[in-house]
Amino acid sequence: MMTDHVTDDLRRRFAQASRVAVLTGAGISAESGVPTFRGGGGATIWEWRGKPVSELSSAELLATDPKLVWEWFDHRRGLLKDVKPNAGHLALAAWEKRFDAFTLVTQNIDGLHATAGNREVIELHGSLLRGRCTRCGTTRELPPPPLPEMPPRCSCGGLLRPDVVLFGEDLPPGAYERATDAAALCEIFFVIGTSAVVYPAAYLPRSAKLAGAFVIEVNPEETDITPRADATILGKAGEILPQFDFGPHKA
Ligand code: OAD
Repeated sequence: MMTDHVTDDLRRRFAQASRVAVLTGAGISAESGVPTFRGGGGATIWEWRGKPVSELSSAELLATDPKLVWEWFDHRRGLLKDVKPNAGHLALAAWEKRFDAFTLVTQNIDGLHATAGNREVIELHGSLLRGRCTRCGTTRELPPPPLPEMPPRCSCGGLLRPDVVLFGEDLPPGAYERATDAAALCEIFFVIGTSAVVYPAAYLPRSAKLAGAFVIEVNPEETDITPRADATILGKAGEILPQFDFGPHKA
């Protein structure tokens, strides 16, 4: 089913559900001014200083030129400086409070779900706001950009690396497992603002569907998930998500 607004049927299902899981991607932050990687609907970021994103955010480059990788992530942290959560993020923060079981899984590294008020966020790709020591493994909040020291160091003297999943790396231990558990147990699975082409995150809506969840996609464009979703709402997250309410349909 394809629509451009939240229908009464969708609102009723939402109001009657008790277990909801959500996967977000770059599109949920587009209305806050954060560039996406693919698709329309806002600014996209493909390359920086003449290098493609896939090379800048790679384990190979971190091994050979950690300073450049840090400069790239510091540039991205700079883009986030004045960025605020939008109505889509705020709706998801309200959903967390409302459902008996609510799991928010994000591919984003911008920290905006936590700023909006979500307390439990499974960050599949880590966070731009943290560094991780390559010697002792400690993660720590980074000072605001620009970093005074490049690459930055841990108090133990080891080099910090971005606490972000780079191309060629595994997801943080346990994160994907917790996400698949939620996908298997939920009644409604939302896929919001993701092109759903990066794995293993893109398996989540598929496995939720196989486990019997009702899959609702929110995206201004059709994606690979669209043919598999029970409903695709073609629209912006910040405009669509606030249309879900809990009011008159609650059983
Ligand atoms: P993409 O940039 O691939 O996709 C963004 C999606 O958001 C597209 O499908 C757009 O149509 C949609 N979109 C744009 N504006 C929107 C809006 N206002 N509301 C809702 N949707 C909107 O982003 P991801 O799927 O998150 O990985 O990308 C996945 C991963 O690819 C990222 O986490 C990153 C990247 O490589 C790593 O860095 C490991």
